[in-house]
Amino acid sequence: MTPANPAVTDSTAPPVAVHKLLSGQKALVTGANSGIGKGVAVALGQAGADVVVNFVDGDDAANAVVEEIKKAGSRAYAHKADVSSEEQVAAMFARMKQEFGTTDILVANAGLQRDAAFHEMTLAQWNKVLDVNLTGQFLCAREAVREFLRRGVVPEVSCAAGKIICMSSVHQEIPWAGHVNYAASKGAIKLMMESLAQEVAPKRIRVNAIAPGAIRTPINTAAWQTKEAYDALMTLVPYGRIGEPEDIARAAVWLASDHSDYVVGTTLYVDGGMTLYPGFATGG
Ligand code: BGC
Repeated sequence: MTPANPAVTDSTAPPVAVHKLLSGQKALVTGANSGIGKGVAVALGQAGADVVVNFVDGDDAANAVVEEIKKAGSRAYAHKADVSSEEQVAAMFARMKQEFGTTDILVANAGLQRDAAFHEMTLAQWNKVLDVNLTGQFLCAREAVREFLRRGVVPEVSCAAGKIICMSSVHQEIPWAGHVNYAASKGAIKLMMESLAQEVAPKRIRVNAIAPGAIRTPINTAAWQTKEAYDALMTLVPYGRIGEPEDIARAAVWLASDHSDYVVGTTLYVDGGMTLYPGFATGG
């Protein structure tokens, strides 16, 4: 195969990467100023994609992610938008078209928790989680699909017309007391992802999900910051360590690349075995 970027032959020039997995691709990562989204945005940039770093709070952190991506040689900019706002999502994709020309990869990652005992859960807590985690993914995926359909396959860039990665959770499968709104949002993402994947696969659009387990990020500091909490968490993780954002980022790069071209409508669990019913290792 002819590499997309022929090697520089001038001997005075520094060595350049001849080919990166995502060279020439344009990616949008929502919630990319911290946690898993940040790890994914940086990894996509390092793999050669130009990246829009979406955030809703925390401009400085978003700008730092942009700088890290630029250091890897890719283009990037930060874009503030609330993924649960139809207007803001439309404006975000419109700007991406202006700045980068198109969208090849969407990582619908933005998500949050508003935990409460069920009998105390407010409608506001319920709605906030569903609005951001579920409706946010719907709105972003819809804009991405519209752009993929408009543009179609560009063989020099990718054999697919576009890729969407929905960030789900082990809690699309594992029930979670005290987090009913969150688990409901992730369970809904599963069938949204699968139904959308079925609908757009004939157009060569690949939609998949990643279901992270316990990853060391700001969303779950209470689960890993103290030794007691960490030890308790480890009873749920057969592999015996907490996940790092990079564990998810590497999976995202693969799912966004042509290396996974025949992977359609799948949820990739990246969870150290959390979904393997660890209690049954000794019980049952
Ligand atoms: C949640 C984390 C939790 C993990 C494993 C994630 O989806 O956001 O708070 O630690 O699932 O339970």
